[in-house]
Amino acid sequence: MEPLAILILAAGKGTRMKSNLAKVLHPIAGTPMLSYPLDLARAFEPARLIVVLGVQRDLIRERFHASGVIFVDQVEQLGTGHAVQVAAPALQGFHGTVLILCGDVPLLTEATLRGFREHHEKSRAILSVLTTVVPNPSGYGRIIRGKSGPILRIVEDKDLKRGEEKIREINTGIYWVDGPFLLSTLPSLNNQNAQKEFYLTDIVEAASRHRKKVEAFIAEDFIEVMGINTRVDLAKANQVLYRKTTERHMLGGVTLLDPGSTFIDRGVQIGKDTVIYPNCYISGKTVIGEGCTLEPGCKITDTRVGNSVLIRASSVIAESEIEDGVQIGPFAHLRPGTVLKEGVHIGNFVEVKKSVIGKGTKANHLTYLGDATIGEKVNVGAGTITCNYDGVKKHPTVIEDGVFIGSNTELVAPIKIGRNALIGAGSTITKEVPPDTLAVTRAKQTHYPKRPPRKE
Ligand code: UD1
Ligand code: CA
Repeated sequence: MEPLAILILAAGKGTRMKSNLAKVLHPIAGTPMLSYPLDLARAFEPARLIVVLGVQRDLIRERFHASGVIFVDQVEQLGTGHAVQVAAPALQGFHGTVLILCGDVPLLTEATLRGFREHHEKSRAILSVLTTVVPNPSGYGRIIRGKSGPILRIVEDKDLKRGEEKIREINTGIYWVDGPFLLSTLPSLNNQNAQKEFYLTDIVEAASRHRKKVEAFIAEDFIEVMGINTRVDLAKANQVLYRKTTERHMLGGVTLLDPGSTFIDRGVQIGKDTVIYPNCYISGKTVIGEGCTLEPGCKITDTRVGNSVLIRASSVIAESEIEDGVQIGPFAHLRPGTVLKEGVHIGNFVEVKKSVIGKGTKANHLTYLGDATIGEKVNVGAGTITCNYDGVKKHPTVIEDGVFIGSNTELVAPIKIGRNALIGAGSTITKEVPPDTLAVTRAKQTHYPKRPPRKE
């Protein structure tokens, strides 16, 4: 097989997105748009992988700095042809085939691209264009074919002549092209057209003119090759990718009660026999084990969840680690740095931040645990608060194994509660409590004779 170079065009302004964020950084199923063509390109193991950047190029570089990618700057965006001209120095001395991809075509699959490559190689064309037939071609470049069918040229929407607007076969902006031919043709591009841009599409006509063979390969599924130009397109792409992911999980043994209202990002893993109720949103690098239940309305980000974990309705969890058999919620909030060991129960309206909670410990109601290290089999009563912040610094709380904390207790950090200690309800604890001790700080209850109501 010929050596391969892949060029991804991603410098465009994305004007139609009406956004301060570069188009290719907009997330689809939780991952920036550009990561889709990049991953696809990597699957072909190209000898050179070149990405042309324009708008917000520093930000994009930072986000995709992975080794092996050659970034090229297109400071002024003068069209797709100009973008390839700018990349030409990075292709110098390359004699193989070039695959040109667009940064804004995220749904393209490897299978389609491999079929397209096979067609290109078998037909021995110098250039092949990936086309598709759409119900509404407006906005796209149209494929103009000769009488017997060969592709002659591509005409951009704004340059169409009468009658051509009806053509429904359009250019997807994806090409296999002979490297030396591409390099020799680029200097001949001009910008004499409606948009005063250098069109890459003009290489088709250049090839026909030189009697070189040009092929069109029609992609059957036009949704797969759609370019994202507006937020309406973005929503469609999100829908397609979320549907794909939910299907993959269902086929992998996960039950989704309503896949249409379940949003699982691309990088998430879920074990079999886990059941997910509607309106859950699972994102980032979350990994969920087997046999878990996620009740409606849970949001889970970058979290590791073990097996047989029950997450009740409306719980919000980020950057946490949850071991087997844990029960959470409803309405629990686990913030970054939370570690729940096996069998922990975190109940309703409990917030946990940067705390490790030992095996079998329970905090079932209305509690805040921050910067705490809690041992095994501790009972944290309703309304317990770790007062970890003095207005300047955060301080740690240590609660050893077997402690019982009565309801409505404040633990003023830094503080340590020794093994098996018992804290009386309503206490404000400011000094270390030794092991096996009962600590109570509340005022003694006193009784007074009740005065009869005064008569008028
Ligand atoms: C382009 C094609 C059109 C095709 C459509 C498919 C041309 C002239 N037109 O039109 O035939 O139907 O894609 O989606 O090629 N880009 C740069 N630098 C630039 C301009 C664009 O890198 O100066 C990049 C964009 O980031 C984008 C891609 O090239 O990834 C396509 O550019 P865009 O402006 O979206 O072209 P379309 O008008 O959609
Ligand atoms: Ca486009």
